[in-house]
Amino acid sequence: MSLYGRDILSIADLTKEELLFLIELSKKLKRKRRKINVLEGKSIALVFMKPSTRTRISMEVACYELGAHPLYIHAQTTQLARGEPIKDFARVLERYVHAIAARVYSHNDLVELAKYTRVPVINLLSDWEHPLQIIGDMLTIDEKIGLENAKVAFVGDGDNNVAHSLLLACALLGIEIRIGAPKGYQPCAKIMEQAKKLAEKSGAKIIVTEDPIEAVRGVNVIYTDVWVSMGMEKEREERLKVFRPYQVNLELVKHAAEDFIFMHCLPRHPGEEVSDDVFESTHSVVFDQAENRLHSAKAVLLALLLERIPDI
Ligand code: CP
Ligand code: NVA
Repeated sequence: MSLYGRDILSIADLTKEELLFLIELSKKLKRKRRKINVLEGKSIALVFMKPSTRTRISMEVACYELGAHPLYIHAQTTQLARGEPIKDFARVLERYVHAIAARVYSHNDLVELAKYTRVPVINLLSDWEHPLQIIGDMLTIDEKIGLENAKVAFVGDGDNNVAHSLLLACALLGIEIRIGAPKGYQPCAKIMEQAKKLAEKSGAKIIVTEDPIEAVRGVNVIYTDVWVSMGMEKEREERLKVFRPYQVNLELVKHAAEDFIFMHCLPRHPGEEVSDDVFESTHSVVFDQAENRLHSAKAVLLALLLERIPDI
């Protein structure tokens, strides 16, 4: 299996076999965590247009442990802030680095970066998807309950980046996925169309409902994310009202399987999408999720940057 030279802008850029391969490689890297210098001599640009804790730090540590050189680039400190076109920025960067990983507001910026460079481009979150998050999350689900046993519910903003990538990954892998979200915040037509196509092939069941109880009934994975994603701050008041009945709390999780796991990509907004008692409960695997971002980042970098992956 080789993903050498490829871009990952979306979960849908991967086949089922490729996603499973990345999960397996992440597992191996986790089991044998150490510094291996197989990416020595490679420089990786990490371009951030939005804040980040996990993504930035896991990518930097991943580069270090693989022997690559990470360049943290805060976009506001570059000429992008003064209007340099993204396609020029892209053509300059590729003369220096071996891969570009970027967190952007508009997904189109990633598409431009990929169009104007020959090096791999990795989506570190856009307004459309968060594929690296979900690759790590699939590793977590596999470790905790096994991908083949998973029944997943996403409750909250069903039309955000994390929900989109989760829906696509479940559809790709043949995992039942339910989205519990209010009208107007359910996955948009384009993502639904992609997910349905993948589900036809994998046999995944997709349910979209306005009823959060119906969404979580009997599932063993409950996933939520913030109600106000970065870039949506102007809609905050309206969103807090609309999403209030979708909080993941003790009342809601009663309807899930007894041994359910609670997932959140983090950061959370305390008092909003998840109650403290669920967040701090033994069901919560959020810090394992955060850790797995490191192992899956390493897997992605190896897969895109090496023609042949050495024995780990
Ligand atoms: N989950 C995630 O992407 O976190 P950061 O925004 O802190 O990178
Ligand atoms: N949906 C959230 C995810 C943060 C990791 C956001 O875009 O802000």
